[in-house]
Amino acid sequence: MKKMWSGRFKEPSSKLLEEFNASIFFDKALYKEDIQGSIIHSKMLCKQGILTEQEQADIEKGLGQVREEIENGTFQWLVEDEDIHMSIEKRLTEIIGDAGKKLHTARSRNDQVALDFRLFCLANSETIRDLLKSLVGVLTDIARDHKETMLPGMTHLQHAQPISFAYHMLAYASMFKRDFERFESLMERNNFSPIGCAALAGTPHNIDRHFTAENLGFNEPTVNCLDTVSDRDFALDLLYAISVAFVHMSRLSEELIIWSSSEFGFVTISDAHSTGSSIMPNKKNPDVAELIRGKTGRVNGNLVSLLTVMKALPLAYNKDMQEDKEGVFDSVKTAKISIEILTEMLACMTINKENQESACKKGHLSATDLADFLAANGVPFREAHFITGRAVAVAEDKGVDLSELTFEDLKSIDDRVSEEVVPLLNLRNSMNARKSYGGTAVEAVEKQISYFDGWLTK
Ligand code: ARG
Repeated sequence: MKKMWSGRFKEPSSKLLEEFNASIFFDKALYKEDIQGSIIHSKMLCKQGILTEQEQADIEKGLGQVREEIENGTFQWLVEDEDIHMSIEKRLTEIIGDAGKKLHTARSRNDQVALDFRLFCLANSETIRDLLKSLVGVLTDIARDHKETMLPGMTHLQHAQPISFAYHMLAYASMFKRDFERFESLMERNNFSPIGCAALAGTPHNIDRHFTAENLGFNEPTVNCLDTVSDRDFALDLLYAISVAFVHMSRLSEELIIWSSSEFGFVTISDAHSTGSSIMPNKKNPDVAELIRGKTGRVNGNLVSLLTVMKALPLAYNKDMQEDKEGVFDSVKTAKISIEILTEMLACMTINKENQESACKKGHLSATDLADFLAANGVPFREAHFITGRAVAVAEDKGVDLSELTFEDLKSIDDRVSEEVVPLLNLRNSMNARKSYGGTAVEAVEKQISYFDGWLTK
């Protein structure tokens, strides 16, 4: 079969070249965007007097049929058609005849692929962005129910200070809100239409790129055609935004894995989101969280892979750039299902308040309160730190938590300790003392919940 570009060639393509060069088996995922772009391009050509109304109508109708054939599975995907752009154009011409051959006026596959891929990236950014909002919604709902649930706050994975489970969930809500904003800002930054840039230099045809931009839902056309056909920043932005969201999801997943272990028992992941073992009947595994943690590796890989493809490419289009798609398709698919299942799993998870609160009794979580109290009462902080350390040692010897020491115990360590300190060492009081803006006290957390509620309903 004769190739569209074969005019200057005397010999046929090698079979291996066909297979090696083709992108059709993955870029067919862009068929909707390709057809949408072609319809708008044809409308512009018609408005500019380059196509007749009849030709434009035939093209639009023919493209509608192509779409139907693709969707009902009768479309023939052939390796020799090379990519989605040529496959669709060939089939269109088979259906409508010569008018189909005029569609490619004033465009090239270089701006065509830049358009299709950009439309794909923008639409999926919006979907992922909205999924992140639901995730923030579930975290905020959990927080609403657990403002009073005390959890040992950690640094270095060692007990540090008492915080609420709500506060911990809202830390993740903050991350996923920023992730939402990362998608939003990449959509804004890349909201420019590539079509009409042609191969690299623009076109002598009297086209209207503002018309195509507007009708494809973009703010404006891109400003420089050479950049446009070479640019894959929009895909890099998306891959980066996905990677950062995954880094956040994998940190939360890691905590869920730890928290759901028998040693912690802070949460119980529902049966619906757990898996069993083929040999050990007793097992219930947190595979969802582990897979999210694991998939972070592949989405990060996809980002590094495209960064590496793009580095040092001379302007303008190079075939290397065909390698841009599979990683993006993979990251997008992985992100959508991962965010969705994480949201569902969190909504169905049981939070074991008693286990979290009894864990707070290990690790002398109110030690900083004792040191702060002494320092506020004239003891130099270094000395206060030392005295508190001794109090911790006494508690350890007695086999109790610092919060369980009596006034007499404390007084015998240093007589600058006064009775007022005793309630301050109570763990709940310790948590609720941290009412500074953004802190873990119930009243500070309530403000955070209203902040997220306000944002969610915006
Ligand atoms: N299949 C190609 C890609 O994905 C389309 C652009 C081809 N352009 C070219 N000049 N060969 O990048």
